[in-house]
Amino acid sequence: MQKIGVPGCFVTELQQESFPYSTDQGFSTPYIAGITYQLKGTEVKLIIATIKPFKLDEVREALTEAGIRGMMVTEIKGFGSQSGHTEIYRGAEYAVNFVPKIKLEIVVNDDSADAIVETITKSAQTGKIGDGKVFVLDVQQAIRVRTGESGEDAI
Ligand SMILES: Nc1ncnc2c1ncn2[C@@H]1O[C@H](COP(=O)(O)OP(=O)(O)OP(=O)(O)O)[C@@H](O)[C@H]1O
Ligand SMILES: [Mg+2]
Repeated sequence: MQKIGVPGCFVTELQQESFPYSTDQGFSTPYIAGITYQLKGTEVKLIIATIKPFKLDEVREALTEAGIRGMMVTEIKGFGSQSGHTEIYRGAEYAVNFVPKIKLEIVVNDDSADAIVETITKSAQTGKIGDGKVFVLDVQQAIRVRTGESGEDAI
């Protein structure tokens, strides 16, 4: 294991044959044996969670206690495995029985993503059907408009 420091972050996952970086997307990215490794500490994740609307306050409170400082909240409708039967009407397929949900979108440091997912699932769970879903995605770029800061500095 080799540890290489670059401004603002450290690499801890480089193998011995590692060598310096390409600089696409504005930050240094070690490139090893055809695989691009993002530097630890520069990765951010997008957590998309749908929850029952009446759980919003409880989930938001739990997330605030967990240190979350920003999120997007949208009222949506959707369907899951029970209520989402589809039907064909005049040749087109329609999904019926949409259920109202709240969608949360939260961008977090890679390091805290697991804990935040756990916070959401614990606070949103009733144990009954329709408690929602959580998806975690890689974020390619995050930028604070006011300052131009990027990556985890932007969140
Ligand atoms: N495959 C999917 N892709 C995107 N969103 C989904 C998917 N499945 C469910 N959802 C989202 O979850 C909501 C339905 O939630 P629900 O919790 O009922 O899902 P479910 O799969 O039926 O799980 P459960 O068994 O807990 O009811 C939808 O409104 C939608 O937002
Ligand atoms: Mg369901």
